[in-house]
Amino acid sequence: MWQFAERTIRDVFHQFNYKEIRTPIFESTSLFARSIGELTDIVGKEMYTFQDRSGDSITLRPEGTASAIRAYIQNNLGESLPLSKVYYIGPMFRQERPQAGRLRQFHQFGAEAIGSPTAETDVEIIAMTIEIYKRLGITSYSLQINSVGDEECRPKYKEILRDELRKIADQLSTESQKRIDQNPMRVLDSKDENDQKLTASMPLITDHLNEECSKHFERVKALLTAYGIPYTVNGRLVRGLDYYTKTAFEITSTELGSQDALAGGGRYDLLVKELGGKQTPSVGFAAGMERLMMILEKKGITPPKQNPKIFIAAADESSREWVLKTTMALRTNGIASECDLLSRSLKSQMKEADRQQAEFSLVVGTMELESGKALLKNLTDHTQQEISVNDIVGFFNK
Ligand code: HAM
Repeated sequence: MWQFAERTIRDVFHQFNYKEIRTPIFESTSLFARSIGELTDIVGKEMYTFQDRSGDSITLRPEGTASAIRAYIQNNLGESLPLSKVYYIGPMFRQERPQAGRLRQFHQFGAEAIGSPTAETDVEIIAMTIEIYKRLGITSYSLQINSVGDEECRPKYKEILRDELRKIADQLSTESQKRIDQNPMRVLDSKDENDQKLTASMPLITDHLNEECSKHFERVKALLTAYGIPYTVNGRLVRGLDYYTKTAFEITSTELGSQDALAGGGRYDLLVKELGGKQTPSVGFAAGMERLMMILEKKGITPPKQNPKIFIAAADESSREWVLKTTMALRTNGIASECDLLSRSLKSQMKEADRQQAEFSLVVGTMELESGKALLKNLTDHTQQEISVNDIVGFFNK
């Protein structure tokens, strides 16, 4: 199932012209602190951080964006291409309380388009994420989008929000009280029901965007509509990582229970520069593999079978060598095939052909090798036909 899903995901990435980037499992701790944000839950409470033998602090990657951008800068990828489109699939680590759909070692697939400021790129990333779910037969999801503003309009909005939140601070949950100063926008995202009621009519960032962010957001919405991608605007969506600017999005599924986020992403125009590169507007997403698997299983979606096309059985000892040689020839010609390696009787070989759910079986003994003809049995519809044993590869290639 994992291989089937990964193959489909890679196909979609390649069709959208994203190239694979493989980054190390651990990086220097400061990379994640600088990119994801010192005050986020991920950096503050969830990272697996160790000291190596030389006393340097290293961290198992909690996500893929920081590493991809570090590699982009270090390898000067921006010099050869104005826009780098990269993808990754691999393990990530966060020390969270494990529960259904939330693991400490989990897997993400994700992509980053590094070097484009356009709304078209945001929508390409969103459309690609959705295409992956569609391709795997998943239709029960919803897309929420927001704009979190930029370095000009967001600080002004945060001040307005802080002033409002301070008025009701003593009624908020302790967690939200702490966030008023550090990251007031996360208070609007609180899971606490009382917090939600208290903040129901608070000003939203979408009403405080500057002209550039507002224009960008309008274009994203218009393009989503033009591409036929349904969405809802959620002015409270902030995401748990600090690097976002302008577009932020999340894809959720009601089939997942409390950990309902299938995928999330957004634009991060300042990150490359913050990590020591040139100003390089970028956008990306990441999605959880395990959560995808949960839905595939729940919906009974199964991968196409990967059984042998043909099982060749040897009717006697003297034909074993021929059977082995012919099986090899089929394999090297791209036809999945199997034969007996355990010196079993003909009866057991036929049982094995059934167990392997091979599409065809062929019994070859001295008689067949002398006449050059053998009976090819279709194990699904139980029909049979005579074929020439000297041209089995040609027969299957046709
Ligand atoms: P994120 O929202 O932290 O974003 O994670 C993306 C997805 O990874 C989530 O929607 C969820 O499906 C999955 N996930 C996260 N934590 C866990 C966990 N503990 N167990 C199982 N699945 C989990 C990011 O990581 C950003 N790097 C996305 C991005 C890329 N933004 C721009 N580019």
